[in-house]
Amino acid sequence: MELDTTLSKKAACNSHGQDSSYFLGWEEYERNPYHPIDNPKGIIQMGLAENQLSFDLLESWLDTNPGAAGLKKDGVSVFRELALFQDYHGLPTFKTALAKFMGQLRVDKVIFDPNKLVLTAGSTSANETLMFCLADPGEAFLLPTPYYPGFDRDLKWRTGVEIVPIRCSSSNSFQITEAALEEAYQQAETRGMRVKGVLITNPSNPLGTTTTRRELDILINFIADKGIHLVSDEIYSGTVFSSPGLVSAKEAIVGRDDVSDRVHIVYSLSKDLGLPGFRVGVIYSNNITVVAAATKMSSFGLVSSHTQYLLSAMLSDDKFAMKYVVENRKRIQKRHDMLVSGLLGAGISCLDSNAGLFCWVDMRHLLSSSTFEAEMDLWKKILYEVRLNVSPGSSCHCSEPGWFRVCFANMAEETLKLAMQRIRSFVDTDINGRRQCKLIPCPRRFSLAKWTFQLSSSERKRER
Ligand SMILES: Cc1ncc(COP(=O)(O)O)c(C=O)c1O
Repeated sequence: MELDTTLSKKAACNSHGQDSSYFLGWEEYERNPYHPIDNPKGIIQMGLAENQLSFDLLESWLDTNPGAAGLKKDGVSVFRELALFQDYHGLPTFKTALAKFMGQLRVDKVIFDPNKLVLTAGSTSANETLMFCLADPGEAFLLPTPYYPGFDRDLKWRTGVEIVPIRCSSSNSFQITEAALEEAYQQAETRGMRVKGVLITNPSNPLGTTTTRRELDILINFIADKGIHLVSDEIYSGTVFSSPGLVSAKEAIVGRDDVSDRVHIVYSLSKDLGLPGFRVGVIYSNNITVVAAATKMSSFGLVSSHTQYLLSAMLSDDKFAMKYVVENRKRIQKRHDMLVSGLLGAGISCLDSNAGLFCWVDMRHLLSSSTFEAEMDLWKKILYEVRLNVSPGSSCHCSEPGWFRVCFANMAEETLKLAMQRIRSFVDTDINGRRQCKLIPCPRRFSLAKWTFQLSSSERKRER
């Protein structure tokens, strides 16, 4: 396609990342979505980390508290007040309720000060805003692999910041090591990039595991040593369903005054409450310059006053909030267990996990060879023949072929059972029967080379 030179480079360039199999799988699903009655042979969406397990709890709270959605306070309308509200500092009542909720999710081991909190339109905006605050174009952030594919868009696209992978391996369950951190740092320096920080997801997307205390200590010592920042995206903090529990970066820096204004936390209500459509995210930082700058930047992606009002009423209801968190975790665990045992029935194992809305699934034994091409062949088979949309590890920049992220909380229980049946019969008849991976022609739009191991545009330029 010819570039439209009347547009800005940003609008015309293709660095948004939407040609990754992560997003292409979604497109295929949209063309042929599974429905139990209307399209029982359609594709089941297992590539979307959405939490639909506890809507009934939210809906029943809304039924018993009609004033919240009806914009009433003590029976009197607050419609006009909210309609005019446009302060980018956010509604104080909402920030107080959100800060308290974040503390409750961490079993009150840490207290969040509402004054250090910046509201953003989801974690997407929170992460990008932090990049704008912490790095200039061409500077780098180190990210442990595998990582959430959306980061290629969120952290890099508009900011010009580069991502350099910290290569983690299955040999130690993808944990972060000093050696891997140092290697990534050196790699960035060799490429002429100044490293400004490390960004982790805790719990990890796509691993579904919490970051261990030891890993956090390694990370904190590393950023202290290098004089850089740590961003901890804790969007899945309310999904931790078994031990070891969550150790928030905020908890890990207690007593570390040397780094406390260089550790920043990102959170959102998209996963724990299952409200990605409400666009509620947050940055929490001890760094007053970062808080001030991010607050000013937040005017480009505010949370509507309507949403803030509704959710401040919901989250201030302590009894409800805690009941929700406990029940939601239980439901997530049940689904997780269903997926793990269903896959085991097909001879497929998952990385041991204790959080998240997905499992990190090991299909290395189903590859025709230990290559990313074979991973794509298997992914296409699973998408077009088994009709499940899962995310291949390469879309998460995993350095080993054969891993897939499979989501379990965005569908009905019956649909998950069907998905397990389909994968079992695929392994039995296709893989065990033929022991051959038949190649499926690539859709024309799709080019493996385009996105596998894309690190950054400048890196690609250098490789050309
Ligand atoms: C680790 C991580 N960060 C950020 C996001 C974006 O979330 P939000 O809907 O709050 O923008 C996601 C969504 O999947 C995610 O998994």
